[in-house]
Amino acid sequence: MYGLVNKAIEGLVRQQFGDSAWARIKEQAGWTGAHFVSMDTYDDEITYRLVDAASAELGLSPEQVLEAFGDYWTTYTMEAGYRDTLRMMGDTLPEFLGNLDVLHMRVGTSMPGLIPASFALEDVDDGEWLLHYTSERVGLTPMVIGLLRGLARRFEEDVELEALEGRGEATATFRIRRVVRSAGND
Ligand code: HEM
Repeated sequence: MYGLVNKAIEGLVRQQFGDSAWARIKEQAGWTGAHFVSMDTYDDEITYRLVDAASAELGLSPEQVLEAFGDYWTTYTMEAGYRDTLRMMGDTLPEFLGNLDVLHMRVGTSMPGLIPASFALEDVDDGEWLLHYTSERVGLTPMVIGLLRGLARRFEEDVELEALEGRGEATATFRIRRVVRSAGND
């Protein structure tokens, strides 16, 4: 994966757990380089090792680390120079989710080695969607839950998220349902 991903893992760990936690995670993952370069590509194995090391160091499951990472990615990419690209993909959560492949295609113009996931949005009902996810990698579905949580926050949507099938595998479907709260029910 592009170094941007590993840099974001570093950013999340440093921000929430401090520099010394990152130093230990890096060491445990066997990464001896000084820093990751956003536009260089690295073996996926490095990313998985960082997730496992973060899990061991922070006392979280790998799924919890991936979920936190997905959420963080939605704000990290805004700050990493993709604010305009992200803005162009839609003004509402469903519009944005329908454009995820367009988004990665656009990102791919400057990252020719990009191997992104693919997403298809299906309307189910008023305020309910299914997001179909296909990847060439396994085990990243918790990251998608975190991504959806971060995006829902960005679009100020209150949603329920559910992974329907294939959790932990390379394909999965996510149900996204708007939560309707009656007045005085908070
Ligand atoms: C401008 C913002 C974004 C950028 C720059 C970006 C870039 C990337 C990069 C570099 C990777 C690693 C793949 C590789 O290096 O080959 C990736 C993977 C991924 N991206 Fe994005 N992305 C963005 C937004 C999003 C959003 C909003 C989602 C929301 C669903 C998303 C979902 C994913 C997923 C799930 C993966 C993991 C790949 C897999 O499952 O195989 N990305 N993206």
